[in-house]
Amino acid sequence: MERNNTITEIFDGIAIITINRPNKLNALNRETIDELHYTLKEISLKKSAQVIIITGAGGKAFVAGADITEFKDFNVEQASILARSGHQKLFNYIESSSIPIIAAINGFALGGGLELALAAHLRVASLNAKFGLPEVSLGLIPGYGGTQRLTQLVGKGRSIEMIISGQMIDSKKATEWGLVNTITDPESLIDECISLAKVIKSNSPLAIAAAIRAINANFKDRVNGYDTEILEFSKCFGTDDFREGISAFLQKRKAKFTGN
Ligand code: COA
Repeated sequence: MERNNTITEIFDGIAIITINRPNKLNALNRETIDELHYTLKEISLKKSAQVIIITGAGGKAFVAGADITEFKDFNVEQASILARSGHQKLFNYIESSSIPIIAAINGFALGGGLELALAAHLRVASLNAKFGLPEVSLGLIPGYGGTQRLTQLVGKGRSIEMIISGQMIDSKKATEWGLVNTITDPESLIDECISLAKVIKSNSPLAIAAAIRAINANFKDRVNGYDTEILEFSKCFGTDDFREGISAFLQKRKAKFTGN
């Protein structure tokens, strides 16, 4: 399926969404954010994929940030609406997706691009990828969750270093810092993500969704993550997937999960 700014392919329960504005280094304008939102929502409602991969078109960039041309004349109120809407439609939406989402980072992941990758559940990067939050060089700070999610992932010291220096780091450092899960040759990036997606989708989709909710609970205000874990763990016992998983183990066969 091809929209103005995105291309989506779905095969064998794996969706690959490509952000397709290579001439603008895949910068996230509002239309692209809307398209990503609708595409993710549609996949979730139709249950057409069990794992989603998001990548950028062209060899140069994953996403080089929010589209600067769109907000150059904004005032304080307009900026607040832009950021809040982006959080809801895309960044929080990805983070709380029941379907796991892998960011396949094929080049620059800057500003909103890095924030998109940070909201995803897993990050696989090509060796030539570059990561940065350069907003302070524009007189801004990250506005799509970067100050929070980068800090959660790499710790306060490294997060402050990246954000107030505005400097990029390479894939090697990003791996050492735990910012990305795996690095790979650029040519193997999508295959690597597909292999990872295949491993993930052999597991129970219900259990995966429950695990995502329990892990995310750790970062929510006024929510006790341990209580959420107990609730989600116990709810699994009421599912067909649990009965299938246990039967398959006892019968020494591979489980066939239905997501019920
Ligand atoms: N918003 C809007 N357009 C962007 C963009 C962004 N975040 N990032 C890149 N582009 C556009 C450029 O304006 C240029 O468009 P043009 O050909 O119509 O002039 C095109 O993408 C190619 O970018 P260019 O800057 O020419 O490529 P480069 O190889 O010289 O530099 C970067 C690559 C990534 C270093 C540079 O594009 C950059 O610094 N981008 C902005 C990064 C940023 O600050 N992101 C945070 C935004 S809040």
